[in-house]
Amino acid sequence: MIETKGLIKTIGDKMILRGINLSIEKGETVAILGPNGAGKSTVLKILGGLVKASSGEVKIAGLDMKKDSYDSKRKIGFLAHNSFLYDHLTPLENLKFFGKLYGVQDVEERAKKLIDEVGLSFFMHDPVRSFSRGMIQRIAIARAIIHDPEILLFDEPHTGLDQQAIQLLNKVILRMKQEGATIIMVTHDFGQALETCDRFVIIKNGKVVDDLQNIEKNLEAITEKYMEQVASL
Ligand SMILES: Nc1ncnc2c1ncn2[C@@H]1O[C@H](COP(=O)(O)OP(=O)(O)O)[C@@H](O)[C@H]1O
Ligand SMILES: [Mg+2]
Repeated sequence: MIETKGLIKTIGDKMILRGINLSIEKGETVAILGPNGAGKSTVLKILGGLVKASSGEVKIAGLDMKKDSYDSKRKIGFLAHNSFLYDHLTPLENLKFFGKLYGVQDVEERAKKLIDEVGLSFFMHDPVRSFSRGMIQRIAIARAIIHDPEILLFDEPHTGLDQQAIQLLNKVILRMKQEGATIIMVTHDFGQALETCDRFVIIKNGKVVDDLQNIEKNLEAITEKYMEQVASL
């Protein structure tokens, strides 16, 4: 479903990714863990087509990211650090705008349903400019999935969310998981990773240093593995 081979990214004389090989099957839910600056967001941006790799291959659902970038992007829901929202527009206007961009049918209905799902119905007609960070994150989540993507690329999605919103987000992720979506989520919150993901990839210094599959799903096991990899220099 998602395959990278020898992904390398250099910026200036800095080598940010040093040969990332990942193979992710349809329907897998993968948490990407790793220290700040490890290259996690860069991997996600390359998968989402926001950034080009310096070398290596990326295949998304059998499509080559270089040749079929438009088709592969439609399959992807990308939640980045940047919300991509328009400040002067309301949640409803934002979602309708992005929905139309993706050719979503019955876009108003779908937008309202998602606004409800992320718990913002009461603020549906207020400009996003007045929103708190957590409210923006909620609407950014709705924006990322407006076109019902097969693949979710979520970069630290729980950041800034209150307890209720964390539960709402996990519910959305689990619903999409059940519907067969493939999910890749960067997170520092191992508890949240365990709630939704079944596989844990650890990235350090631009390389995959561990790939935990069929591991005992508890906090101690993940934390121990993580510390083993990340504490060692
Ligand atoms: N546009 C850029 N220009 C220069 N350096 C960058 C750029 N994007 C990322 N980097 C560098 O690449 C490294 C990895 O960044 P990033 O992928 O954002 O890490 P992570 O998400 O794991 O914290 C960092 O050292 C960062 O400073
Ligand atoms: Mg990051």
